[in-house]
Amino acid sequence: MSQANDHPNINPLREGLSTRAVPQPCSVVIFGATGDLTHRKLIPALYNLAADGDLPPAVAVVGFARREKTDGDFRKELEESTRKFSRQPVRDEIWNTFAQAVYYHQSDFSDEAGYKSLAERLDKIDTERGTRGNRLFYFAVAPDQFEPIVKHLKAAGLNEACEGSWARVIVEKPFGTDLASARELNRVVRSSFSEEQTYRIDHFLGKETAQNILVLRFANAIFEPLWNARYLDHVQITASETLGVEGRAGYYEGAGALRDMVQNHLLQLLCLIAMEPPTDLSADSIRDEKVKVVRSLRRMTKEDVAINALRGQYAEGAINGKPVVGYRAEQNVDPKSITETYVALRLFIDNWRWSDVPIYLRVGKRLPKSGTEISIHFKKAPLVLFNKEATTLDQNVLVIRIQPDEGISLRMQAKMPGTSFRIEPVKMDFHYGTSFGKASPEAYERLLLDAMSGDATLFARRDEVEEAWLFIDPIEQAWHSKKDAPPLCFYPSGSWGPEEADELLAREGRIWRRL
Ligand code: BG6
Repeated sequence: MSQANDHPNINPLREGLSTRAVPQPCSVVIFGATGDLTHRKLIPALYNLAADGDLPPAVAVVGFARREKTDGDFRKELEESTRKFSRQPVRDEIWNTFAQAVYYHQSDFSDEAGYKSLAERLDKIDTERGTRGNRLFYFAVAPDQFEPIVKHLKAAGLNEACEGSWARVIVEKPFGTDLASARELNRVVRSSFSEEQTYRIDHFLGKETAQNILVLRFANAIFEPLWNARYLDHVQITASETLGVEGRAGYYEGAGALRDMVQNHLLQLLCLIAMEPPTDLSADSIRDEKVKVVRSLRRMTKEDVAINALRGQYAEGAINGKPVVGYRAEQNVDPKSITETYVALRLFIDNWRWSDVPIYLRVGKRLPKSGTEISIHFKKAPLVLFNKEATTLDQNVLVIRIQPDEGISLRMQAKMPGTSFRIEPVKMDFHYGTSFGKASPEAYERLLLDAMSGDATLFARRDEVEEAWLFIDPIEQAWHSKKDAPPLCFYPSGSWGPEEADELLAREGRIWRRL
């Protein structure tokens, strides 16, 4: 999404009229190579890029982790997990070629010698495979490991590339647990890598439909004139999951749904929905506009939190007809845990466009259905003509389905065929799958390619992350205050969350949209 004239790597022919930067040959060094993320997401994403012919001509993958193992062991493990998690079936000949460029580097994260030998190994790979001295370091580790890693990368001279090459770092979430820790992480990373070298990943931004929000808004003339407080009644953003904590209690107990999903993914989606048109499509122009949205979020006082923020935790229940335990009975969860697995928020963006338009956000685990969608609810047509009798006419609703069944639909009113004047809502529906006839790539595929291309548009900038924490921190503080903390509400697994969350909308005559 960068502009052709400011990007030396642009090949305008590659994608017709689009100006996407071209990914460069490089070595991808994954710290935390034996972890879940590497197996479930990163390697399957790289494999799918290889299978689709989208990888640069030379790419090597170096897994860096503590456990003893050979290149062969590592490749074998990755093959098994890729067969399990890949978007498309693994083809032997493609896997075999891909796997030849996968290496394992055993070292402790704090062992200086391990980084020295890594530098030597990368030089050798450059010569053998043509990766041109370009290095993409991927921190798929807990944030408390960042400090030793960046320190030793710097000591080994790996934070800077030789003339004509580059070194970049992709940092996984969670990016802090509050403003202070996020600032500290930023300081740590900054001690070795500049902001231009730093790519903070938010995989929701890599989802195809999330990217389409900007196209929907700014490549069509019909929506933007209506996209403001004059015509909009409210906005809802929902991310619901049938999954529970899935063995991640070690992390999730200290995080909860607000930090895990709202601070990053949902606020990023909100930014795309609410931002002003950028001056161009460069990474910083887009991120400049996004950060203004977060900065304009009305901060909540403790009293506001009690009224506008609701937290819940799943109790036992059933998902798809199968009984499941409550959160407190999950493995490694404190039986008295007050960690929230559900959040509903009513918030406001204090600027001209969004003045007094309520935005409702909702995320939850163990809900009846998995799906992420944004719905834009327009004000009702004026109370004349058809609307005279009562308020029976539905609102127009534009729904952006982020996942699954990616697409966009518009609900509008139509006259039912017949002699009477009966009006019913109908739906105009666009499905990615049927319209374009191909499956959307996984978010990690897109984001890895962007990082190889030097395009940071879909990565969070330092100020975006810090501003988001400024909004989130008062809510966390109110929920965890010793005195008068708003209650944690419980909901049965398989339900749509605590009943109190319905109240948040019902008091203004609104209801949550059913997914
Ligand atoms: C992750 C959260 O960032 O996003 C998980 O840590 C959550 O708790 C996941 O399940 C949801 O992502 P997706 O792409 O599966 O909707």
